[in-house]
Amino acid sequence: MPESDYAHRVHDISELSDPRLDDYLRLSEAALRMRSDIENGIYIAESTMVVQRAISMGHVPRSFLLARKYLPQLEAEFARFPEVPIFVGEDAQLQALTGFHLHRGALAAMERPAGLDLDTVLENSIRIAILEDIADHSNLGALLRSAAGLGVDAVLITPQCVDPLYRRSVRVSMGTALTIDWVRLESWPGDLQRVREHGFRILALELTENATELGALQPQPGEKIAMILGNEGRGVRAETLTMVDECVIIPMAREVASLNVAAASAVAFWQLCR
Ligand SMILES: C[S@@+](CC[C@H](N)C(=O)[O-])C[C@H]1O[C@@H](n2cnc3c(N)ncnc32)[C@H](O)[C@@H]1O
Repeated sequence: MPESDYAHRVHDISELSDPRLDDYLRLSEAALRMRSDIENGIYIAESTMVVQRAISMGHVPRSFLLARKYLPQLEAEFARFPEVPIFVGEDAQLQALTGFHLHRGALAAMERPAGLDLDTVLENSIRIAILEDIADHSNLGALLRSAAGLGVDAVLITPQCVDPLYRRSVRVSMGTALTIDWVRLESWPGDLQRVREHGFRILALELTENATELGALQPQPGEKIAMILGNEGRGVRAETLTMVDECVIIPMAREVASLNVAAASAVAFWQLCR
């Protein structure tokens, strides 16, 4: 596709104060972005690979923002969305706008996809992970990557959990935040009852005294299992622990107190999803 085909909608950001650029302001302020992105119904796809992956999943861009030299890499996506504006700028201008150095090619402001229906997801899943109050976007991304790569069917995240679509989560997840089925719960731990009604055996991965060793669990074929992983600092909430069927521990050596939550998830998913 020659640049002349889309040149008419390439806007130099030095020449405008376009309100559509507001979608890209203060991208490095995670807490602020999480609130405003959810309110505005958008998320930011970062890097040409993530933009391409998002569009291949059926997500819809509102605008593109990139350094001019990256234009050829996204020509197929520009052609697919002929009405969507393309903003270009020098590195320093892009940094001034977004608040960080844009070294992964491109950004796109994407329409946030509609949430999935919890009952449908629970109906169609055998293994699910429930991520309780995960506070760190890198951990959340790594958890989603483990879940996708090790065969978890779907992920539920609690209302206090950080945003799976924040750009660092998506990046660390290697794009699996866009491909694995996930649902943000509205009530926690209240929604655990709905998980139970769908026939799940509910396990909390947690370092409690009465916990069963992970290696001793023998899931029955077709048994529906939900695995809860807790907050990085506090672990699984005490109230949640009163509602689960069983606590499960990965035995630790050399007096190491615990694993990073994403590392723990990979061990548990490997053991319970094979
Ligand atoms: C870093 S840990 C929280 C540790 C917390 N400071 C405590 O001592 O309870 C975060 C989560 O990772 C999981 N986790 C980490 N190590 C684990 C282990 N050895 N066995 C089971 N779960 C583990 C649990 O889900 C836990 O809630």
